Amino acid sequence: MLATNYRGKRRIRVDRDAPIPTIQHPQDAIIKVTRTCICGSDLHLYNGNVPDTRVGSIFGHEFVGTVADIGPDVTNIKVGDQVIVPFNIACGECIFCEQELYSSCHESNAQSTALSGIFGYSHLAGGHQGGQAEYVRVPYANVGPMVIPENMDLDDAVLLTDILPTGYQAAEMGGIQKGDTVVVFGAGPVGIMAAKCAWLFGAGRVIVIDKEEYRLDFVKKYADCEVYNFLSIEDPVKFIKQITDWVGADVCIDAVGAEAAGDALQTITGRKLLLQAGSATALEWAINSVKKGGIVSVVGVYGPTGNLVPIGNVVNKGITIRAGQASVKRLLPRLIKHVQDGIINPKELITHRIPLEEAADAYRMFSDKLDYMIKPVLIP
Ligand SMILES: NC(=O)c1ccc[n+]([C@@H]2O[C@H](COP(=O)([O-])OP(=O)(O)OC[C@H]3O[C@@H](n4cnc5c(N)ncnc54)[C@H](O)[C@@H]3O)[C@@H](O)[C@H]2O)c1
Ligand SMILES: [Zn+2]
Ligand SMILES: [Zn+2]
Repeated sequence: MLATNYRGKRRIRVDRDAPIPTIQHPQDAIIKVTRTCICGSDLHLYNGNVPDTRVGSIFGHEFVGTVADIGPDVTNIKVGDQVIVPFNIACGECIFCEQELYSSCHESNAQSTALSGIFGYSHLAGGHQGGQAEYVRVPYANVGPMVIPENMDLDDAVLLTDILPTGYQAAEMGGIQKGDTVVVFGAGPVGIMAAKCAWLFGAGRVIVIDKEEYRLDFVKKYADCEVYNFLSIEDPVKFIKQITDWVGADVCIDAVGAEAAGDALQTITGRKLLLQAGSATALEWAINSVKKGGIVSVVGVYGPTGNLVPIGNVVNKGITIRAGQASVKRLLPRLIKHVQDGIINPKELITHRIPLEEAADAYRMFSDKLDYMIKPVLIP
């Protein structure tokens, strides 16, 4: 089958003769992939920022497809069903899954007690092969996959595997109160969705900060928000205070994570020298520009080691920080309804439809923000 193959930092190859995965456990399913996306999270792997990303890995945690085969214990889906597969792999039975903390499943990642298994996301996330391929093995297939409702566009469905739930959870974790000013750092797909969803929780003002003008133009229309380019602002923290009556934002959302730009010290220590687990610039800005007693919601991804964050300001300002990988399965029923009701139109984010064979080019374009790319979908 066709499959992406990681060969080292910024090197992706597409194999034509990768072995088709087979059922290895009675609760496995094999899914024939019909749509798969590249995510900002994949860029952390691609750019060599995630430890234990092994050569030969198939990336891809955002995919939908048709059930091609099931193990004898799989009863919730059948061969031929079209399914949405959440990016987190969850057993459905451990103490964390019981609390619907599916991204914290204690069983699906033997390599770590911090994080559940994630498809195609290094051995740090369990070493599960991903869905940027023609077929993918899905463990615990009674738990994750959900049948795609009739009439739902596959382009909408594939954005329900991660991007929409993550943006929604970013807003949810912000504990937004009616009328709140919410600042979203990052106008990538996750930040765009976070800005859109902030209104659903009652925000009175939504501000998005990025450096890519084309993304700011998009989110301004898509999420009906204020946008600012930090490249033309001398001090983003001071600027946010200035436009919030010198109080600070009620809620700040970090939708950037480890690849953040904007601060030379963070970039050099976090991205070039790997002395910290990514560049924490957006997180630092979020902490410093939220009001005293405000909430910082972090969905941007960082590595497992330490980061330079202004913890003293967190304490002295009495900030609440909430963070997490999205619990996709928990959110799917309500978000499917929002899509069906036309409240959110995820597929509008898709700017590029690229054959899986051309995944190497797609990675480079997405990483380098070329050709006004917002969200690429790969078609096997
Ligand atoms: N928690 C989760 O469950 C989850 C799920 C998906 C993605 N993520 C993470 O969310 C983050 C965003 O994902 P994405 O797909 O939107 O990525 P992306 O790379 O497409 O977008 C990131 C955006 O941040 C901008 N940016 C860079 N530095 C900035 C700064 N200092 N301030 C403001 N903006 C800045 C970039 O220009 C870019 O537009 C990534 O870290 C990704 O790993 C988390
Ligand atoms: Zn993703
Ligand atoms: Zn579990």
